[in-house]
Amino acid sequence: SEGKLQLVHRHIRAFPDFPKKGILFRDICPILKSPAALTAVIDLFEERVRSHHLQVDLIVGLDARGFLFGPLLAQRLGVGFVLVRKKGKLPGPTTCVKYDLEYGTAEAETQEDAVAPGQKVLIIDDLLATGGTLYAACELMKKQQAQIQGCMVIIELKDLNGADRLKPHSVFSLLQY
Ligand code: PRP
Ligand code: HPA
Repeated sequence: SEGKLQLVHRHIRAFPDFPKKGILFRDICPILKSPAALTAVIDLFEERVRSHHLQVDLIVGLDARGFLFGPLLAQRLGVGFVLVRKKGKLPGPTTCVKYDLEYGTAEAETQEDAVAPGQKVLIIDDLLATGGTLYAACELMKKQQAQIQGCMVIIELKDLNGADRLKPHSVFSLLQY
């Protein structure tokens, strides 16, 4: 039967020149439309956590597409989920960092009480491009004195060297383009 990775791969499409000319946009919407492909993503993430004996107290998900996968993984692992949001969306005391994107700049924010000092976190997003977004999330987690166990994405765009930017933190990706 078809492997899980192959199943996931078959549910990613590419759109040229979106959202700007020169960007080949990888679209993960077909994964969400397929219960089998979505289950395969979470299975593969879970297998990685278990095979590497990663200790995880909390899953941290990035706005917006990390929110689609992070909570499912958190439930599998029996841990909580916290949000890193674009600035201005979270109530109460927050921690904020600025970051650069493949196409523009943004600010990311977490609630100050999202993570307790020393908690072990695994950061989830759909895709690693320049690494700016995951780098910002790592900075936020450092400010909160979290122990970063690594980052996980479905897709890594190798040419943009995002993994280098995240060092010494490790990035696990299901598929590389
Ligand atoms: C995309 C993607 C990642 C980030 C990757 O989100 O979902 O979060 O960009 O790029 P980077 O590695 O260069 O930082 P985007 O900023 O487009 O926001 P969205 O999730 O709200 O669509
Ligand atoms: N595809 C999807 N999301 C992205 C991309 C991309 O190529 N680059 C940055 N975010």
